[in-house]
Amino acid sequence: EKNGYEHFMLKEIFEQPEVVRATIVPRLSMNEEQVKLDRIHITKEELDNTNRIYIVACGTAYHAGLVGKYLLEKMARLPVWAETASEFRYRDPVLDSHSLVIVISQSGETADTLAALRMAKRAGARVMAIVNVVGSTMDREAENVLYTWAGPEIAVASTKAYSCQLAAMYLLVLYLSRMQGTLSREEFAILRQELYALPEEIQSILERAESIRHIVASTVQKSVFYIGRGLDYYASMEGSLKLKEIAYIHSEAYAAGELKHGPIAMIDGDTLVIGLITQQELTEKTVSNLKEVKARGAKVICIAEEGNEKVTEAADEVIWIPKSHPMAASLLANIVQQLFAYYMAVKLGNDVDKPRNLAKSVTVE
Ligand code: F6R
Repeated sequence: EKNGYEHFMLKEIFEQPEVVRATIVPRLSMNEEQVKLDRIHITKEELDNTNRIYIVACGTAYHAGLVGKYLLEKMARLPVWAETASEFRYRDPVLDSHSLVIVISQSGETADTLAALRMAKRAGARVMAIVNVVGSTMDREAENVLYTWAGPEIAVASTKAYSCQLAAMYLLVLYLSRMQGTLSREEFAILRQELYALPEEIQSILERAESIRHIVASTVQKSVFYIGRGLDYYASMEGSLKLKEIAYIHSEAYAAGELKHGPIAMIDGDTLVIGLITQQELTEKTVSNLKEVKARGAKVICIAEEGNEKVTEAADEVIWIPKSHPMAASLLANIVQQLFAYYMAVKLGNDVDKPRNLAKSVTVE
C-alpha cells in the first residue's frame, strides 16, 4: 500500500522520522548511562580481547559500514576496517578469535554478506549482524544481533533502511564507547539528546521537498560528481549510488581532496558537482575545492548546515539542512540526496520503484 504516495520510494523516504525514532528511542529511554541493546552479548572482557573489527556489507549497507568505521575509531578508539563483502570473502583477511565481524544487511539474505558471516564464524571470530528482516538467515546465524526497525522496504533503492542502519550504528558507537570508557556520562547525555532530536530534524528536511524538486527541475547535466570530506565523503558515495540506480545518470563520489589528483580534468560546463559540507571544521577545505570546479564551468549545488554562510561563496544553489551534531549531520544531508535522486528519476520518467537491471535482494553471487 502506497498510502497515497506516487511511489513506494517516496513513501519510504517520508517514513524516516518514524522509523528512525523506532530504532533509537527504545534503546535509549531505559537507562541514563548506557544504551540498551537486547541481543548484543559482548562483554567488556571480550572487547578487550578484540584486536580488530571488520564491518562487511554490500551497496548502501556498506556505506553505513563506512560511517561506523569512522565513528568507532573516532569515539570508541577501536581499530576498524570496512569492506564490501564480495572483496572480503575472496581475500584472506586475518580472522581469528580476536576479531569481531559486523555484517550489515537490510534483507539479511545477501549472498556475499552471508558468506562473509559464515567465513568469520568458521575462523572463530565473534559475529554481529545489523539486520532489518527479523527471522532472516543472518538474524538466525549471528550470535549478536542489532535490529533496524525500518519495517518492510519495498522500493529497490534503499532509503529508510539506510537511515536506520546509521541510527543503529550510532547506538552501537555509543554503547561500545561507554564500554571502552572513552565517552563520559556528560558526553553520553548530550549525544542522547542529539539522537532524540534526529526524527524532527529529518521531518524539517522532508518539509522542504518541494524546493528540492524545483532545483531538480532546473538542473541538466551529463555527469555528476558528489564530493565531501570525512563523514560527508561516505554520504557522497550513497548519494551517488542512489542517482545511478534510479536516475541512470553517470555519477561519481570523490573525497574532495582527491579531485585535483585526476578527476578534475573531467570537469566542464556539462558537469554538476554536489558538495556536502556538514562537518564544520572542514568547511574551508571543501569550499575551496568547490571554487576550483566552479571556475572550470561546473554547476555547484551545496548541501550545508544552516548558518554556515561561507558555503554561499562557492555554490550556485545551497540546500540547507538543520544544524545537528557532526556525528549525525551526514544522515540529514543524505535525506536531501534521496529526494534529489527521486525527483530526478521521476523527471526522467524512470520506473522509480523497480529500476532496470536491479533486484531488491541479491541472493546469488
Ligand atoms: C541500494 C541498494 C543495494 C543494497 C545491497 C545490500 O539502494 O539497495 O545496494 O543496499 O544490495 O542489500 P542488503 O542490505 O539487503 O544486504
